Amino acid sequence: MTSTVEHTVIIGGSSGIGLATARKLLGPGMKVTITGRSQDKLVSAWKSLGGAADKAASDASKPDEVRQFFERLGPFDHLVLAASGGKGLGPFETLDLADIGGGVDEKVRPQLSCLQAALPTLNKSGSVTFISAVSAQVAMPGVAGIGAINGMLLTVAPILAVELKPLRVNVVAPGVIDTPWWDFLPNDQRQAVFAEYAGKTPVGRIGRAEDVASAIAFLVSNGFMTGQVLTCDGGLRFAA
Ligand SMILES: NC(=O)c1ccc[n+]([C@@H]2O[C@H](COP(=O)([O-])OP(=O)(O)OC[C@H]3O[C@@H](n4cnc5c(N)ncnc54)[C@H](OP(=O)(O)O)[C@@H]3O)[C@@H](O)[C@H]2O)c1
Repeated sequence: MTSTVEHTVIIGGSSGIGLATARKLLGPGMKVTITGRSQDKLVSAWKSLGGAADKAASDASKPDEVRQFFERLGPFDHLVLAASGGKGLGPFETLDLADIGGGVDEKVRPQLSCLQAALPTLNKSGSVTFISAVSAQVAMPGVAGIGAINGMLLTVAPILAVELKPLRVNVVAPGVIDTPWWDFLPNDQRQAVFAEYAGKTPVGRIGRAEDVASAIAFLVSNGFMTGQVLTCDGGLRFAA
C-alpha cells in the first residue's frame, strides 16, 4: 500500500493563527511549509514545531518574492493565507480613509497575490483557505474600515470556488483571538479589551489561535467544503 503525504503552505505561518495551524496539520500525512517576513520569527516558530516544518522567508506584499517562492517550492496541495494587517480600526468619524487602501495593501492584495502566484503549482484537488475576520460580519461601531477590508475576502472566496473549480476555496472569519496581532496595544489595555470581548462573547471567553486552527484544518481536510465562510468567533457575531 502506498501512503500519500500532502503538503500545506501557510503564508504567515510564523505566529498566531498560522503557527497554530501548522502545529495542528503537521503529522505523518501532512508536510507543512511556513512563511513570514521576519527570519527571527520563522526560526523561533520552526523550533516551537520541533523542526518538523519547512520554513521560508518571503514577503507576501512583494509580488516578485511571492512568485519566486512558489517557483522554488514546486507542486503542493493546500494553501492557507494568514498574512495579517491591522489598519482600519476606529470610529468612522475620525477614520483616516487612506487606511482602507493601506489595509488592502497589507492583507487583501498579499493574500490574492499569493493565490494567483500559486495557481500553476497548487494541486487542483487541494484547497485554499483565506483568513478574513468577523469585523466584516458584525454591525459593531469602530470596525467600518477594517470590516470593509476583510469583507473583500468574504466576497472573493465563493466566487473563486466556482471560477477555480475543482480547487476548493474557503474563508475563515475569526472573532477576537489572543495572538501577537494585538501587540500594538500595551499589555494593560490589551487585557482590558480581551476582558470586554470575553464578556460580550456567548462562550464567555475570547478565542485561542488553536480554536481557529481547528476550523482551518476542517476546511483543509473536508473535500466537500468549498465556497464557505466559516465564522469562528465564540458567537460574538450575534452578540456584539
Ligand atoms: N488575532 C485576532 O484577533 C484576529 C481576528 C480576526 C482576524 N485575524 C486575522 O487572522 C490572520 C492571522 O493573524 P494572527 O492573529 O495570527 O496575527 P499574527 O500573530 O500577527 O500573525 C501574522 C503572521 O503573518 C505574517 N505576515 C504578516 N505580514 C506578512 C507578509 N506581508 N508576508 C508574509 N507574512 C506576513 C507574520 O509574520 P511576519 O510579521 O514576520 O511577516 C505572522 O507570521 C490575519 O489575517 C488577521 O487579520 C486575527
